[in-house]
Amino acid sequence: MNQPNDSSAAIHIAARLAEIEQFHVVTLVTRAFELEAQGKKIVNMVIGEPDFPTPQPIVDAGINALRHRQIRYTPSLGGDDLRGKLQQWYLTRYGVDLPKSRIAVTSGSSGALLLTMGAMLSPGDEVLMADPGYPCNRHFVRAMEGKAVTVPVDADTGYQLTAELVGKNWTPRTVAVMVATPSNPTGTLIPLDRLKEIHESVRRNGGVLIVDEIYHGLTYGFDSHSALEFADDVFVINSFSKYFCMTGWRLGWMVLPEAYVEHVEKLAQNLYISNSDVAQQAALAAFNSETLAILEENRYKFQQQRDYLLPALRDLGFDIPVEPQGAFYIYANCSKFTQDSYGFCWDVLEKAGVAIAPGIDFGQHRAGEHVRFSYPKPVPVLEEGVRRLRQYLKV
Ligand SMILES: Cc1ncc(COP(=O)(O)O)c(C=O)c1O
Repeated sequence: MNQPNDSSAAIHIAARLAEIEQFHVVTLVTRAFELEAQGKKIVNMVIGEPDFPTPQPIVDAGINALRHRQIRYTPSLGGDDLRGKLQQWYLTRYGVDLPKSRIAVTSGSSGALLLTMGAMLSPGDEVLMADPGYPCNRHFVRAMEGKAVTVPVDADTGYQLTAELVGKNWTPRTVAVMVATPSNPTGTLIPLDRLKEIHESVRRNGGVLIVDEIYHGLTYGFDSHSALEFADDVFVINSFSKYFCMTGWRLGWMVLPEAYVEHVEKLAQNLYISNSDVAQQAALAAFNSETLAILEENRYKFQQQRDYLLPALRDLGFDIPVEPQGAFYIYANCSKFTQDSYGFCWDVLEKAGVAIAPGIDFGQHRAGEHVRFSYPKPVPVLEEGVRRLRQYLKV
């Protein structure tokens, strides 16, 4: 506790906050906005969200709900109609027949991850995850008094965990393993057979596998397979944010093992009562054929954007040993230019007007040698970014 002085009240900051880091990307974005306010045009390849608007049928369904319904609390695990749509989605998309009771609608996949950790972790319990990986995962675990154990991964495993790495890093305190396929920041997938091996290893050790499938739908030339196709004892996390282009609506979901449902429900009831009713009403239109046609068109454009940027970055001298097959990120080794990717990103922003994310945002392992490019932008914008980088790097 900081002692009060005459002019201020006592301030109590939880000890756990010392272990929760800032998102450097956000500081970079703030500076990018400042530069834009000064009249500079910034090519923004930092933010991890689609450039496309929410599909019109979803927006219309939201507006319709606002006009014609009372907007109320919904059941904590989501409205029955949306859970029904999700149930149908798993059947048609993956051939998986789930009971609705195992589907929980959440506030983005962030909400799902927080509930998962809240339901599973006792103080000091360990969760294994890849480094590099989505930074908030460490912090969800820490916020719920667990301990995130990051496992360095490299190009040889497609920047993903393997059953072998899980086995090597398991301790008596390990309770869960988290993977994301496709991954942020690398855009790489875990092939289905390797995912099954990881699941088997986690199961043998008496833990739980959490699979973040938030970038499902955004794969290029590969099908997205859900872990639910072969297991019903996993936590599968998903969201309307990315494929469905609904980041700001803050809606996601998860599919959880039956034994956890009542515990997760109790947490959801207490932590936030329910998710946004409007967002849920809008999302009911997410699975209709008109919307899916728009989303598939978007996916085609994402693929074109990747297909432009990947060779262009390699041509500039960035080393990208594994082709990103999904999401909308390229994780590039920049050691030809710097060992300090953090300083590099700031310099590139100030001098070239291009915003990219430093490796440090995604972990510690070889972070200084890597940057992440987020490419959901029209190809001409990406071309301008590459032109500026070429000039800056003098290549
Ligand atoms: C891998 C991964 N998981 C979860 C999230 C959280 O997304 P949301 O809460 O918008 O669903 C993100 C966001 O970028 C992500 O990249």
